[in-house]
Amino acid sequence: MVMILLPLFMLILLIGPLRSQDVEMKNESQKIMTHACSLVICSPAQNGLPGRDGRDGRDGPRGEKGDPGLPGPAGRMGMRGSRGPAGAKGDNGTVGEPGPKGDIGPRGPPGPPGSPGPAGREGPAGMQGNVGPQGKPGPRGEAGPKGEMGAPGMEGSAGATGPPGLKGERGDPGARGVPGIAGIAGPPGPIGPQGPPGARGTPGPKGDRGAPGDKGEKGESGLPDITALRQQVAALQTQLQGLQSTLSQYKKVEMFPDGRSVGEKIFKTGGFEKTFAEAQQICRQAGGEMASPRSAAENAAVQQLAIAQNKNVFLGMTYTNGKFTYPTGQPLVYSNWAPGEPNNDSGAEQCVELYTNGKWNDKKCGENRLVVCEF
Ligand code: GAL
Ligand code: CA
Repeated sequence: MVMILLPLFMLILLIGPLRSQDVEMKNESQKIMTHACSLVICSPAQNGLPGRDGRDGRDGPRGEKGDPGLPGPAGRMGMRGSRGPAGAKGDNGTVGEPGPKGDIGPRGPPGPPGSPGPAGREGPAGMQGNVGPQGKPGPRGEAGPKGEMGAPGMEGSAGATGPPGLKGERGDPGARGVPGIAGIAGPPGPIGPQGPPGARGTPGPKGDRGAPGDKGEKGESGLPDITALRQQVAALQTQLQGLQSTLSQYKKVEMFPDGRSVGEKIFKTGGFEKTFAEAQQICRQAGGEMASPRSAAENAAVQQLAIAQNKNVFLGMTYTNGKFTYPTGQPLVYSNWAPGEPNNDSGAEQCVELYTNGKWNDKKCGENRLVVCEF
């Protein structure tokens, strides 16, 4: 022990002041040094004066190994060890609670086509188609009958000077000429009876022109030039085509969306409901009449308007003088009564309504129904 500690002590003295981190080690060395002194140098004095220093004894035998000292302070934490091998797999945990519902997955591929369903019911009649394109001009018509005579034309301007007139008729005899020169006197005879009148003398000079006669009657107009007529016809045809095209365009506009045309007739709805009397007034004020279909085609056109507005329509016919008649008073030429109709329910049904299925029912005129006029 002494062999170890003594050199250590010497070393400490030589080194001098220690760095701060080594202070703890220095204190430890001093403790050890004090302990060495009590063993080797500084044994306590007995009686009398101290003797001279003896010679250095020989080292004693090596003592027994001392008891183990107190455990030193815990050293500084060592470096982290290398990662140990993976432990054995643990037991399965208990079953967790079901997690929240996941997002909707991507749409699956389309399934195989289903088998065809049963045929549907027949749908309502379709809307009337658009007016077709303008047809080609028809073949040239036959010449029409001769027109009536036109109104007299304006008085023409004065014509050119005419050719010289025919030779005039022989004029009246001129005035008696001047008596001729007396003949040579004959021998004197007995005085005879008076002789015959002398020969006719030469005509006198032409008399002055007489006053102009009265104005004659107006003559017939001359024939116009055929080329000019052709030009006028061509110009009129061009004008007519333009008008037809414009008219066709206006008709399309007018039919959209509340009008239907069948032949010459056009049905149009106001889109609102009124009593029969009010509807009649509205249609007449517009220059038309309440819709009075006279054929299946016309009935289908009115039905289309009823479907488009989803309303029953008041028709123009009424029960008058024991029968249903048109506004003109004529009896019906076409009807489309619903089964069991007309039944004059409560004896108060003098008007006619058209259902959206196209069938008719007699109805009270005071009800409100869709207004549809025909023009
Ligand atoms: C009424 C109608 C009658 C009859 C009846 C049927 O509204 O005016 O004519 O059709 O319905 O229940
Ligand atoms: Ca009825």
